[in-house]
Amino acid sequence: MEGNQAPEFTETAHLTTETETSPPAPPAPLSIKFLLAITPLILASFYVSFLGPTVFVWDFKSSLLLRSSSSIVQGGGGVRVAPPPSASVDFVSPVKKDVSANVSTVTSSPSAAIESREKASVEINEAIALRRYTKLERLELGLQMARTAIRDAKRGNQTDLTEDKDYVPTGPMYWHHKAFHRSYLEMEKQLRIYIYDEGEPPLFHTGPCQGILATEGYFINQLEMDTRFVTRDPEKAQLFFLSFSVTYMARYVYVRDNHHWRAMKHTIRDYVRVISDKYPYWNRSLGADHFMLACHDWGPKLSLWVPNLYNNSIRALCNANTSERFIPSKDVSIPEINLPSGDLKGLVGGPPPSEREILAFFAGGGDHGPIRPILLKHWENKDKDMEVHQYLPKGVDYYQMMRRAKFCLCPSGYEVASPRVGEALHTGCVPVLLSSAYTAPFSDVLNWNAFSVTVPVEDIPNLKNILTSISTKRYLTLQRRGVQIRRHFVVNFPPKRYDMYHMILHSIWLRRLNVRINEEDHQAE
Ligand SMILES: *[C@@H]1O[C@H](CO)[C@@H](O)[C@H](O)[C@H]1NC(C)=O
Ligand SMILES: *[C@@H]1O[C@H](CO)[C@@H](O)[C@H](O)[C@H]1NC(C)=O
Ligand SMILES: *[C@@H]1O[C@H](CO)[C@@H](O)[C@H](O)[C@H]1NC(C)=O
Ligand SMILES: *[C@@H]1O[C@H](CO)[C@@H](O)[C@H](O)[C@H]1NC(C)=O
Ligand SMILES: *[C@@H]1O[C@H](CO)[C@@H](O)[C@H](O)[C@H]1NC(C)=O
Repeated sequence: MEGNQAPEFTETAHLTTETETSPPAPPAPLSIKFLLAITPLILASFYVSFLGPTVFVWDFKSSLLLRSSSSIVQGGGGVRVAPPPSASVDFVSPVKKDVSANVSTVTSSPSAAIESREKASVEINEAIALRRYTKLERLELGLQMARTAIRDAKRGNQTDLTEDKDYVPTGPMYWHHKAFHRSYLEMEKQLRIYIYDEGEPPLFHTGPCQGILATEGYFINQLEMDTRFVTRDPEKAQLFFLSFSVTYMARYVYVRDNHHWRAMKHTIRDYVRVISDKYPYWNRSLGADHFMLACHDWGPKLSLWVPNLYNNSIRALCNANTSERFIPSKDVSIPEINLPSGDLKGLVGGPPPSEREILAFFAGGGDHGPIRPILLKHWENKDKDMEVHQYLPKGVDYYQMMRRAKFCLCPSGYEVASPRVGEALHTGCVPVLLSSAYTAPFSDVLNWNAFSVTVPVEDIPNLKNILTSISTKRYLTLQRRGVQIRRHFVVNFPPKRYDMYHMILHSIWLRRLNVRINEEDHQAE
């Protein structure tokens, strides 16, 4: 990855390029613009139909890869020559018709996509009736339906989306709000996760629930208690959770004085060995339908000790450092939410922009990582509009400062993520991302340029000019949108729809949609 530049999410090619000033109007059928916009989709669809199902562009933001399990890399370095089971070819074909053969109809009328989807679902049901499908194939059929539904939502319009009484995502904060909404509803309909029983707390099945790494423990604990998305039957699961806590390994297993990682390394390796010996699921996909979650800085490096975990599994990480091989199409960037006393009581909410008299605010130690020293060198006690401190003066409240500030500076520390991003959004302060090689949380769904400011590290000396050159109108827009998407960064007990817990699940679900798992051995069924 090239070093200091705007984070990953701004540079990926989008299928639907939405600039935030001109969100694409629902296209008039047959307009040239629409035809041009949809051309990549048509090409992608033909690719699927004629060259086989391995590469398949469907995602609503970037060009994600559909990885079939035959293309997944074996730990030893070789590629597993998966016998493409003939059954799997049968089962794709009804879907293929829908996706590709009728593309010409789709281009001339968006609603044809919906009709053709209904038709496809009839065909799939017939196909199911004709043949005894394995459980895995049924799950994969369901995922295929979800992919089709999301693509249709992206192309045309669907009436049923506005009926969501909790929340209807809309606005340029989303790369494509309808596709996201559809995908979210499909997740609620289908997603089932299996959690392996193996392992004992505190290293397994729990995690820290307080402080800046609380996202890790919060998610693990909530998922362990979840009855909606978690199944006790692994045959019904599309995803398998490796319920270990990197933070607790660093706390209880790491030997501080000799700096040896050996014990942590063995813990993770042994765990994966146990589950892959005892159950067929890890070997079946080489880990591609398994996921881990870590907020600790060491999450990425620890995953390295199990090559398939590192290369194939979905890794949900706070430390989404693309220079450390965070792969946005496979891995998930999760927010680092600080829970000082285990929850967000009294921390969400802030005054309107008119009551924010400070231009920019930051407080934090200067010895954390490479970026903070640069910020402090240029701005600590240099300018009364720039409240940049290592130590807050006595009696000054950190959160109160965030509520009085227009912009909250969020430099990376020891890891690329910063808890300040969540704190800024919670308090209605516009986040200013100061990082490099960082994939911002949920940037598969959210367009961060619509509600935050990104300043490359080399422009830190120029920070004040950059912030003051943002017009009041633009500022008000950024601030309002930040408040609107705040729910995605809020932690609830128990979780609520569209909150952080569900957004993490959704991003993991999206990555699962990029993989198709083939049965290795049909005789075994
Ligand atoms: C993991 O993926 C990288 C990049 O594709 C590859 O170079 C490496 O050999 C893979 N490692 C293993 C253990 O498969
Ligand atoms: C495609 O659509 C046309 C017109 O709606 C229909 O006649 C044709 O059978 C469809 N083709 C396939 C392969 O479903
Ligand atoms: C799609 O949107 C157009 C205008 O925005 C509307 O007239 C039409 O009824 C919608 N179609 C469906 C199926 O919702
Ligand atoms: C999975 O693969 C490993 C290594 O090849 C093997 O030792 C293990 O027995 C396999 N697990 C199952 C359930 O077959
Ligand atoms: C991201 O990873 C690179 C490569 O390991 C490292 O040099 C850099 O310091 C990391 N960034 C942060 C903020 O930790």
